[in-house]
Amino acid sequence: MISRETIDNIISAVRIEEVVGDFISLRRRGVNLIGLCPFHNEKTPSFTVSAAKGIYKCFGCGKAGNGIGFIMEHEHLTYPEALRYLAKKYQIEIEEEEQTPEQLQEISEKESLFNLNEFARKYFSSVLFNTEEGKAVGLAYFRERDIREDIIQKFQLGFSPDKWNAFAEHAIQEGYKKEMLLKTGLVTEKDGKLYDRFHSRVIFPIHSASGRTLGFGGRILSSEKTHAKYVNSPESDIYNKSKTLYGIYFARTAIAQKDNCYLVEGYTDVISLHQAGIENVVASSGTSLTTDQVRMIQRYTSNITILYDGDPAGIKASFRGIDMVLEQGMNVRIVLFPDNEDPDSYARKHHPAETEKFISGNALNFISFKTRLLLEETKNDPIKKAGLIKDIVASISLIPDAITRTLFIRECADMMTVPEQVLVNELNKIRRNRLNKELQTQGRDYDIQGPAFIAPPQPLTEADASSAESQEKEIMRLLLLYGTDVVKIDQTDENNDKVKVPVMVADYMVHDICRDELEFENKVYAAIFEEYRTGLDSDQVPERSYFLGHEEKEIAYAAVDLIFTPYELSQNWLKHNVMIDIEEEKLLVRLDYSLLSFKARKIDLIITDLQKKLHGNDSAEDVTIIQTRFRDLKAKSIQIHKKLNRIVIR
Ligand code: CTP
Ligand code: MN
Repeated sequence: MISRETIDNIISAVRIEEVVGDFISLRRRGVNLIGLCPFHNEKTPSFTVSAAKGIYKCFGCGKAGNGIGFIMEHEHLTYPEALRYLAKKYQIEIEEEEQTPEQLQEISEKESLFNLNEFARKYFSSVLFNTEEGKAVGLAYFRERDIREDIIQKFQLGFSPDKWNAFAEHAIQEGYKKEMLLKTGLVTEKDGKLYDRFHSRVIFPIHSASGRTLGFGGRILSSEKTHAKYVNSPESDIYNKSKTLYGIYFARTAIAQKDNCYLVEGYTDVISLHQAGIENVVASSGTSLTTDQVRMIQRYTSNITILYDGDPAGIKASFRGIDMVLEQGMNVRIVLFPDNEDPDSYARKHHPAETEKFISGNALNFISFKTRLLLEETKNDPIKKAGLIKDIVASISLIPDAITRTLFIRECADMMTVPEQVLVNELNKIRRNRLNKELQTQGRDYDIQGPAFIAPPQPLTEADASSAESQEKEIMRLLLLYGTDVVKIDQTDENNDKVKVPVMVADYMVHDICRDELEFENKVYAAIFEEYRTGLDSDQVPERSYFLGHEEKEIAYAAVDLIFTPYELSQNWLKHNVMIDIEEEKLLVRLDYSLLSFKARKIDLIITDLQKKLHGNDSAEDVTIIQTRFRDLKAKSIQIHKKLNRIVIR
């Protein structure tokens, strides 16, 4: 754990223009620096760096953040990894929060497993290139599969000789402990003797996203079926199959650049596609896709294209994978290869450009994919067709985003020629059932009934929505810009004399909003607000820089956006002729104005809602209760609007 103090030191040492300048060339334009965005392809620079604010933003692709965020994004590092990178750059000593002896022991043990794997990787590679057997058997095998030498080098392929304990003997001689050899699974023990797990196989090292060797896959050379075609490293403290993607280290940059990740099944599929110039590709290595693997891809892109070979078993197995990707809120497309071809064999038979064209030309979204496959089976049997529709709607129901769900429902309705409402009903049924189940496992066993999960089209106009958004946005801007500043507010002391009391802006705003139990509709704003609230509770108001480099990208982007967007005059401000230049003493006025506008807006929304309930006769609620609430709120609204006017007139 890096201590909070070290993190603060790093944040204050970082000069954004220097951090970015290590990777792209920047030139001055006005108060900012600009350059070509490293995150998307562009010819005219829209990547902007503000040295004064310590942030960057690309006006082309929307990526934004501070120095830490830039390093995370550009180098694909986690938050602590980025901090270490920057600490090194600025020669800041990292103070680690104390670790227990057990933690230290664990770290050093993992390090020695990595060391041993590194040693083994070099050994296998050296056997392949430098021994007679390696050249005659291993290299010959790769050549026969048309794998070029530069690709063999790049993927660090190797060969393990046809002797039961060649590696074990060598490693022991070099001082590696038997215990470690067994822990990595490179060696097994039987009747007191050591055996190489991978003997007489070509070797595919499996790398982590940062390029460390986690384990190995070994392929048998002959086609005889007496032994398993592939043998893989067993699970260990450093190798967890379900959290690993073969090829991620070589693919990550291309995945981010192409904003898409191809997912294949095998080692050789990854390698052949690379050789054909398609580098944004990883393999799940023969197991079914896991949530962890999907999340790993999500660090680089939200688009996955699954490449399947055409056997029916594989296709059915793909359905679960598709659902998993959808559930993570990612977009999925599927390419089906012709019978008896996998990406490897296809790429070897065709020109690279043809392969590329085949893949992009045959990518289907999941609805088309399922429909095409299953429609053949169902023919015109209405019962089977109903089953297919349910199947597709079940997949759609997993998508977290409501708008995306609605769009897919529409597409499905079109394709299957069924009324959209029928699908919406089915969708809502599935989602309600799931929610009920979740509630039950949480120990609450009541039924959710009533309102559908997709609401009927909202009568809310665009202007309404955007102005609600703009009020939330203004509150957030003020919090971020002035949160740690101090304003003096009027209070009366015990003698009833008027005194000015200094209060921190964040404190003032957060308490005001919490008192009225108002909430933010924008989820990211709500999260930022929550951090202020918990920060205040523990007397630690978060600094602006904390949000700019927030671990959660959405928050960092929003923070940058709030600070970068030049202040836009809302129609209200213009109408009421509010002063625009904010001198210190006007800050309080502005805070009050924004807080009141925010409240007025919220209350008016609730009032409209109540009005609808009063007019509609579908409400189960007692009319008198609604009426009372309505009157209370109306009075409050009038009061607030009066106050708003007073502020403005002053
Ligand atoms: N696999 C495995 N163990 C096996 C068979 C397969 O771990 N006994 C994994 C490997 O990662 C393999 C992937 O599943 O790459 C896909 O298997 P398969 O399609 O059978 O192999 P290919 O990758 O096509 O290998 P090759 O072209 O060399 O036959
Ligand atoms: Mn194959």
